Amino acid sequence: MNIVLGVTGGIAAYKTPELVRRLRDAGADVRVILTPNATRFVTPLSLATVSGHGVIIEQWGDPETGAVDHIELARWAELLLIAPATANFIAKMAVGIADDALSTYAIAHRREIQVAPAMNWSMLQHPTVAQNIETLRNRGVEIIDPASGPLAEGEEGPGRLADIPVIVERVQQHFRPKDLQGRAVLVTAGPTREPIDPVRFFSNRSSGKMGYAIAEAARRRGAAVTLVSGPTSLSAPIGVNVTRVTTASQMHDAVMQNLAGQQIVIKAAAVADFAPAATAAQKIKKDQGNELTLTLQKSPDILSSIAASSPRPFIVAFAAETESLEENAREKLLRKKADLIVANDVADPSIGFDSDQNEVLVISRDGTTTRIEKSSKLTVANRILDLVVEHLPRD
Ligand code: PMT
Repeated sequence: MNIVLGVTGGIAAYKTPELVRRLRDAGADVRVILTPNATRFVTPLSLATVSGHGVIIEQWGDPETGAVDHIELARWAELLLIAPATANFIAKMAVGIADDALSTYAIAHRREIQVAPAMNWSMLQHPTVAQNIETLRNRGVEIIDPASGPLAEGEEGPGRLADIPVIVERVQQHFRPKDLQGRAVLVTAGPTREPIDPVRFFSNRSSGKMGYAIAEAARRRGAAVTLVSGPTSLSAPIGVNVTRVTTASQMHDAVMQNLAGQQIVIKAAAVADFAPAATAAQKIKKDQGNELTLTLQKSPDILSSIAASSPRPFIVAFAAETESLEENAREKLLRKKADLIVANDVADPSIGFDSDQNEVLVISRDGTTTRIEKSSKLTVANRILDLVVEHLPRD
């Protein structure tokens, strides 16, 4: 793993010697470039010592050897990681300003880039910063989202540099083998909304994070990914073909229309089991007495339709349970005719619905059960995909 670490001038720069150490522990060779402002927060000597290489601050190469540092480095580097990335540096990257060693290198760099922003919450939410981050994302730069918590200025909110283990994990994921290359994977994510009248609907607490993480991880592992998503506030993962739907019935139709050629289907969406039999044309008035009776009817069972299709893809179902997790999931695995089922204890508020973390049991048809310990949804997604790769029928 040949990594160039770019350090910019934010308080979180003090954490970068630890980051370099952890990256080296994971087997990386790390070369560091600092902006002049970064040197106010961390000493070049610390980074040179922990990385085992001289660091670069000056824009111009060594006149003695004639070496142009940024081009030479670009030939060597497999990944550019910028951590922490300030609002200023993100803006420079978004428009292509190259006025110091790091911003020049960012343009010379030839392979993938990961950016870990860190700044005060109000700066992070400034429309210009949000737009610049989106510009980078749309260009294929992987953003390692900042964490929420206490900030340097005594305030609280989103903007803290992602935790070092999270950054190291994202770097390691970048170097994973492309073991889904040539595979077509369909993922469903998010809730469905079932309209009662023009202004009201039934839904559930799914944020879409689990399904989007699976789509993202599968794409990074080389798959051609189609994501059928219920309503969420999440940005479409880059390089993933997204179809947005609202109701269970629309999700059913979108999945079936996209099913031809899919070898793997992963159903992380929380689909409404029942929907109003009819949607009122006008807003239901409250002057209809003390009770309101709605008739619900069963939504189409998407998994059953997939399982009945021919050729039948490899099917991964999810089971959201509030009791008897393993037992209920095993029963669902058989009833839904899935190959694997991911059992999610949604009674625990720290995992499952709308949380950044998850912890699941994955049960296979051959009876094996694998526990995936509590970790980020991207890590859980990759572990699920490891099990998918393990259980896929040989071509
Ligand atoms: O979105 P997040 O906030 O990240 O939360 C993730 C999650 C908790 C939603 C996810 O991990 C999860 O558990 N998803 C499945 C939720 C669910 O609807 O489970 P279920 O036990 O009700 O359904 C079982 C399976 O049948 C699911 O794969 C579901 O997609 C599928 N189903 C359900 C109903 C239906 N009409 N058709 C289906 O195919």
